[in-house]
Formats: sequence, structure tokens, C-alpha cells
Amino acid sequence: MREQLLAAEKVQAIDWRDGALHLLDQRVLPFEEIWHVCHSAAAVAEAIRLMVVRGAPAIGISAAYGVVLGARARVAEGDGWRAALEADFQLLADSRPTAVNLFWALDRMRERLVRIKEGDDPLALLEAEARGIHQSDREANLTMAQIGVDLIRKHQGSQQNLLTHCNAGALATGGFGTALGVIRAAYLEGLVERVYVDETRPWLQGSRLTAWELAGEGVPVSLNVDSAAAHLMKTRGITWVIVGADRIAANGDVANKIGTYQLAVNAMHHGVRFMVVAPSSTIDMALESGDDIPIEERDASELLELNGQRVAAGVDALNPVFDVTPADLIDFIVTEKGVVERPDAAKMTRLMCRKRLH
Ligand code: MRU
Repeated sequence: MREQLLAAEKVQAIDWRDGALHLLDQRVLPFEEIWHVCHSAAAVAEAIRLMVVRGAPAIGISAAYGVVLGARARVAEGDGWRAALEADFQLLADSRPTAVNLFWALDRMRERLVRIKEGDDPLALLEAEARGIHQSDREANLTMAQIGVDLIRKHQGSQQNLLTHCNAGALATGGFGTALGVIRAAYLEGLVERVYVDETRPWLQGSRLTAWELAGEGVPVSLNVDSAAAHLMKTRGITWVIVGADRIAANGDVANKIGTYQLAVNAMHHGVRFMVVAPSSTIDMALESGDDIPIEERDASELLELNGQRVAAGVDALNPVFDVTPADLIDFIVTEKGVVERPDAAKMTRLMCRKRLH
């Protein structure tokens, strides 16, 4: 499976080369493929805020490279560079609030920074750490894809109709994707009849990104409005909902793109299995439950306007862009450390004590 997945790889959204961070601009896909180049920590923070790069693992990887860019400028300024670099850490941390991978990656970079000694080459060491974060996310994707496919085969052997929400694919990670990695692997194993993709209002990650990724690989895919999901579960023989995550609390509650919670409620009603696929860098054991997860609210204009045209008059709009699915609506959380079935606090603690499987 590993070799098959590697051979099928088409999209890479994050490229560190020539001392700069190159990001495939996700605001203009699928019609334009433009690379957005960041030369500073501030530019990376801005790219995350504006969603040039998005998706929890991809945000974390980008922030790690952002620290490298920040360090390069601070070291050139001379003495006191470590203290000055704190401003860059802060800027990057303030870029988006919900995906914990961002803070996890910044913590890892800070831990590496603290261990740098007199006489070391700080830039080489920080760059190696950022590359390591990037590479281990790729590896985690491969491991999770294999685990997820095994679950699908074990629970329903023949061809499946799958439904996914948002984009948890190559564009959102350092590799093949989390949820989409499992879906890709299931397709390669001949287990997929069709993938139903929620368009994912208001930013349209489903229509613009997930549909593009899957169609590009020849996977049979249909796009639907988010509110069609319950109807499709009832009428189209959907057997699995497979999604990614932005932050998973210590009790197994999962924050993911707005609309995920209602999918889980509907899945339970229709007897559809619900799988969350996320690397352990998405698990925040410091938060007891999903109630503590900060939920990002974006500008009301994302709802009040469509392609720059006003579509509503005389009202304000609420635009929370994530929601929290309670653990008791989730059948499986798949990570690179293994699977948690019907998550709860004790099972999550046991999972986090394990080593990565590969
Ligand atoms: O606002 P976005 O596009 O960054 O939200 C992304 C999601 O909600 C994804 O499902 C999640 O980050 C998992 S990506 C592997």
C-alpha cells in the first residue's frame, strides 16, 4: 500500500526550497495553480491567516518553516536574536486559533531552539527540525491510510459509498492527507464505489479542493450541498463518513470544519460509521473536553457576499468555522499511533502513551 500511495502522489502544497517557503495558493484553486512565496515569518503568519495554506497539519508545518525564516532574519541582526525571535513565535501563534497542530509545531521548534548551544549552527538545526516535522507528517499519513483501510475492510468488505467534508487531503497536510489518505487508499484497494463530497460552505474546501484532488486521481466523486448529507445517507447507501480534525480534546471530542457535528448526528441516526483521521499532533491532552477548544469565527462577509456580490441585506451573520463533535458520536479515531474505537478519556490517554506504529 505504501508504494501504491507514493506512486499515486500528485499534489504537494508545501515546498521548502531555495531558502523560502513555497505554498500552493489554496484561495485560487482549482482554476489557477499559483505558488505563493514567503521569505519571512510575518509573511508565513499572513499566509496562514488568509488561508493561502490551510488544514491543521499544513498550518503546523508552515509555521515551523516560518520560525526558520524568522530565525534567519534575527540571527543576521546579531546579539539578542533568541529574544527577538519570540515576536515571530507570537505572530505565528496568533495567525489562527483552532488547529492545535500550529501550537504543537511551534512548541517543537521552541524546544529545539532551547537546546541550541554556543558554537552550533542555529539555522541548520532549526531547518532540520522543520523538515523533520514535515517528513513525519508524510509518514503519519501513510500509516493512517493503512489503518483506515483495514478498518473499512474489516467492517464492510465490499465496495463502499463514502462521504467526506472539507479538505483533509494532500493540500491540508505534508503528504497524502488524513481522511483523504484513507479514502485514496480505499480506492486503490478497490473498496470505493463513490465518494460524496460536501461543498463545505462558506469557503468551499470540498468543491474547490477535495473534489479537485479526488477527480485528478480518477476517483468517482460527486459534489453535494452540505445540507444534502442526511438525504444522501438515507438514499445513497453511504456506509462511512470519513473526516479530519483540527483539535481533539483529552476525552475524544473532535473539533473540525463547521458542519462535521451535524454529519455525526445524522450518521448515528442512519447507522453510518463515523471515522476521524488525524495525526497525534492534533490531539490536545491539555484540554479536558471539546468545550475548551477555541472556535475561530471568520468575517461575516464570507456569508453576506458571494464573489464580491452582496447576497443578504440588513442582517449581520455569524460565521463560526469549526464545531465540536462529541466523542460519543464517533466510532473510530485513527492516528499514526493506532485506533481508538468509541473514544473516551481513558482510551485517549492509553493511545497517547503508545509509540508511532511505524
Ligand atoms: O479552515 P480550514 O480549511 O483550515 O479547515 C480545515 C479542516 O477543518 C480540516 O478538516 C482539518 O484541518 C483536517 S486537515 C487534515
